[in-house]
Amino acid sequence: MKNNSRRKFIENTIKATVAVAVTGPLILKSETTSASSKIAAIATGEVLKFSQVPLGFDYKALEPHIDALTNEIHYTKHHAAYIKNVNEAIIAEKLTFTTEKEFFDHASQLSPKARNNGGGAWNHNFFWQSLTPSSTGPDGKIKDALSAAFGSFDQFKEQFTQAALTRFGSGWVWLVNVNGKLTIASTANQDNPLFDNAAVKGVPLLALDVWEHAYYLKYQNRRNEYVAGWWNVINWNEVNKRLV
Ligand SMILES: [Fe+2]
Repeated sequence: MKNNSRRKFIENTIKATVAVAVTGPLILKSETTSASSKIAAIATGEVLKFSQVPLGFDYKALEPHIDALTNEIHYTKHHAAYIKNVNEAIIAEKLTFTTEKEFFDHASQLSPKARNNGGGAWNHNFFWQSLTPSSTGPDGKIKDALSAAFGSFDQFKEQFTQAALTRFGSGWVWLVNVNGKLTIASTANQDNPLFDNAAVKGVPLLALDVWEHAYYLKYQNRRNEYVAGWWNVINWNEVNKRLV
């Protein structure tokens, strides 16, 4: 949405909300607080807007495991489209969430456009930040936590890989911290473990994109080779930071 249109939308939204507050029926205290906070959020430009994280490496930096053209198209086309589309949906549907947490806490109530593109926007930011050309392998507390949860890193790797290979169609595989218990989960489409209706709900620690757009140019139908290569470019330092 262009600035002028957005400003007009915001002005109209504020007017409409104020009008309801003035002319509407008796408003309970909690509703008054909620309405006031929404007006404040809109007036100060704090309504949620997804942003695409900068890529922390060159497109070619993950070769030979993930090729430059795949990274470039994935980042500049697929991911950029999710960002653009979710922000369009937030404006068009007059969503007043101010945080990503609030957005995903209501995932089951969102329109398909908001839900799918919001998931795609967040998941890919998380995915890019989980990658590095200088992967060192798991170390420190994440290594200990994986051993405690799965017996050993190798057993975790085997189970995670199996989840990636058996995810039917497009989706994601996750390592999730569920109240202190590390768990492997798989989601369809652009769902993630932050969704209010996720089968496995918790704090994501690591994500693998198994949509064909993530690997098809280099690996075609050989998802197993893509997954095998991905293990070489995981940013375990970032995963460690997420384990609190
Ligand atoms: Fe993707």
